[in-house]
Amino acid sequence: MSGERSDESALPGFDDMVQGPTGRALREWPEPPPLSGHGPARIIALCNQKGGVGKTTTTISLGAALADYGRRTLVIDFDPQGALSAGLGMPSHDVVTIYDLLLGKEKDARKAVQATKTKGLDLIPANIDLSAAEVHLVNEVAREQILARVLAPVVDDYDVILIDCQPSLGLLTVNALTAAHGVLIPLECEYFALRGVALLVETIDKVRDRLNPAVQLDGILATMYDARTLHSREVLERVVEVFGEKVLETVIGRTVKFPDATVAGAPITSFAPDHPAAAAYRQLARELIARGQVA
Ligand SMILES: Nc1ncnc2c1ncn2[C@@H]1O[C@H](COP(=O)(O)OP(=O)(O)OP(=O)(O)O)[C@@H](O)[C@H]1O
Ligand SMILES: [Mg+2]
Repeated sequence: MSGERSDESALPGFDDMVQGPTGRALREWPEPPPLSGHGPARIIALCNQKGGVGKTTTTISLGAALADYGRRTLVIDFDPQGALSAGLGMPSHDVVTIYDLLLGKEKDARKAVQATKTKGLDLIPANIDLSAAEVHLVNEVAREQILARVLAPVVDDYDVILIDCQPSLGLLTVNALTAAHGVLIPLECEYFALRGVALLVETIDKVRDRLNPAVQLDGILATMYDARTLHSREVLERVVEVFGEKVLETVIGRTVKFPDATVAGAPITSFAPDHPAAAAYRQLARELIARGQVA
């Protein structure tokens, strides 16, 4: 994989680089080169069964940043709360949703795709109907593979597909893990952050063994980091101790700009492009591209 950093101490100027919050060098990841062609997409599931850790915010902001770098990006609302659809200011009622695709009420995934206000960023929405999906799908043949099948016809249209999972490890999340090439785990920098992560990693391992040998843990993303508190720094230190290189160098700070952007129904990258929070998500996009996890 490109971007392996095991030899980074050998890089010239390493000692002069500023130390970032994860204790490693805080680097400016290179400006991504333009792509000569598009697709097939790498599918990344944003997962954490803990609620309110920044899954939806990361899906929106990272998706918009990748689109701004010329990567064709599809984001999938896979949570009956429909927060991703709302956060992008897009309708989720009286439109074709991911629920219609999962249940085969609509056969063509393209019919569910909506273009957002950000160029190159498309959405498949969800609404509260999705909460009934698990009950309907539980008796289906190959019930874990339904999302992978639904997405197959659009994979070639995109460079990356991000799935915003709901806070649970139920059948929908297992479908997301089965469809995915990679998993990104947003982790809020607070005391109980690591609780439940072992179970999540175990679930990913089971899906890899039984359903989807290709799925990898792409990285752990620390969110809502507050550099002013010892607490945030201690939690991040512990996360790095446990997960080492899996912890992404990019760390997302805590700021009220995110809820503000949600109210405005716009990604942070267009709501407040000059804010450090927008810069952080552009940095995350560059890091994932440099690591080879996005084209
Ligand atoms: N870096 C941040 N700083 C401050 N607030 C944030 C940050 N990231 C997200 N938030 C806010 O925290 C709340 C939860 O974030 P978000 O909805 O992205 O989490 P989630 O993991 O998707 O939640 P759920 O599990 O309910 O789907 C939202 O109000 C969001 O605006
Ligand atoms: Mg969410």
